[in-house]
Amino acid sequence: MSPAAAREEARARDAADPLARFRARFALPADERGEPLVYLCGHSLGLLPLAAREIVAEELDDWARLGVEGHEHARRPWIPYHENLTAGLAALTGSHPGEVVAMNSLTVNLHLMLASFYRPHAERTRILMEAGAFSSDRHAVASQIAWRGLDPEAELIELAPRQGEALLSMEAIEACLAEHGRRIALVLWPGVQFRTGQAFDLGRIARAVRAHGCVLGFDLAHSIGNVPMELHGSDADFAVWCSYKYLNGGPGAIGGCFVHERHARAQPRDRHSGGLPGARLAGWWGHEEPTRFLMEPRFQASRGADAWQISNPSVLGAAPLIASLRIFLEAGIVALRAKSVALTDYLESLLRPPQGHLDIISPPASAERGCQLSIRIVGGSARGRRCFEALGRRGVVVDWRSPDIIRVAPVPLYNRFEDAWLFARALGEVLADSR
Ligand SMILES: Cc1ncc(COP(=O)(O)O)c(C=O)c1O
Repeated sequence: MSPAAAREEARARDAADPLARFRARFALPADERGEPLVYLCGHSLGLLPLAAREIVAEELDDWARLGVEGHEHARRPWIPYHENLTAGLAALTGSHPGEVVAMNSLTVNLHLMLASFYRPHAERTRILMEAGAFSSDRHAVASQIAWRGLDPEAELIELAPRQGEALLSMEAIEACLAEHGRRIALVLWPGVQFRTGQAFDLGRIARAVRAHGCVLGFDLAHSIGNVPMELHGSDADFAVWCSYKYLNGGPGAIGGCFVHERHARAQPRDRHSGGLPGARLAGWWGHEEPTRFLMEPRFQASRGADAWQISNPSVLGAAPLIASLRIFLEAGIVALRAKSVALTDYLESLLRPPQGHLDIISPPASAERGCQLSIRIVGGSARGRRCFEALGRRGVVVDWRSPDIIRVAPVPLYNRFEDAWLFARALGEVLADSR
């Protein structure tokens, strides 16, 4: 097919896309001549939902107008502000509304969850995670082990793919649990792996982990807003995420947590819950709202995951997410995922040989990956880096993960089939230039 015909075909796919209208709800970055960039970087920072400007402006306006009174009288009162996000987060994670809470940011939430759920005792002292986990997750886990006076080198089990492979099989996870399960206190696993884009079957992981009596937490940084989930049904103990990637919450946006309802139920509400698995570290924002401002020393926990809050949240860090979650609820994560699979499959089909010169390390099966394709340029890291930089000069926004991966994420809310085609064309040219 000629390039012109191929581009027309991509455009025809866009014309038939029932979700295409959502692209107009986002600010699309442009180059200095005002030409839109080919933005395929939603796995790193999602785009601005245009309605976020209005919501942020309303908060600033209410602050200007009302000062402290805004806590109760803003159009979205600030005291229960996080509740504006609950329904959207519950829908995207497949949780009950009482199981999710928007608060802090990802690594802070991971620390709070590990403080609650990592309970090394007797011979169950270890934490299992993947080798090659995001650095911040590893720092959090290793420092939690050390903070308890244990040795991270001895207590951390890091499961790596087989030599020469990029992906971890479910069988390898199950075999690791069979071998070490009785010594493992907690498993921390990604929903979608940040470097490879591999999407794990959360339910199957949860069944395997719980069969060995370990506590399970998920890092959903690359899953939320990318793939549908059933967290409540999976029976996971906790999960954490950030909101600046697929959730389009803006740089440094408020993060979130899931705590399975069985844990909230098991904690006393009328006092601090020291000693129990899942015991909370507390602050005034976890105290129930009706009596919070009596400022009494006695603690009375909020219901559900809200009780794990500590500080009052940043209203300005949460406001853009309200706009984005409204769009997600309108579009529906199931429909978005259907488009996402079609879009990523299409991108992959454009990158297959005879173009050559590259190796897609993401899983080949759509069900085992999110929207991201991770591409290794054949010929070494220096060539890969040159290609990545040349893509940037052609107005293609993707990112580079050391030592040799280009990550490309067509996002169903605002990317088009034509973007996939433009990327494939740019990559083909760049590869030809870098021989
Ligand atoms: C998988 C994963 N974990 C942790 C983090 C760190 O996030 P934060 O800076 O919000 O703590 C990120 C950030 O991109 C991430 O992708």
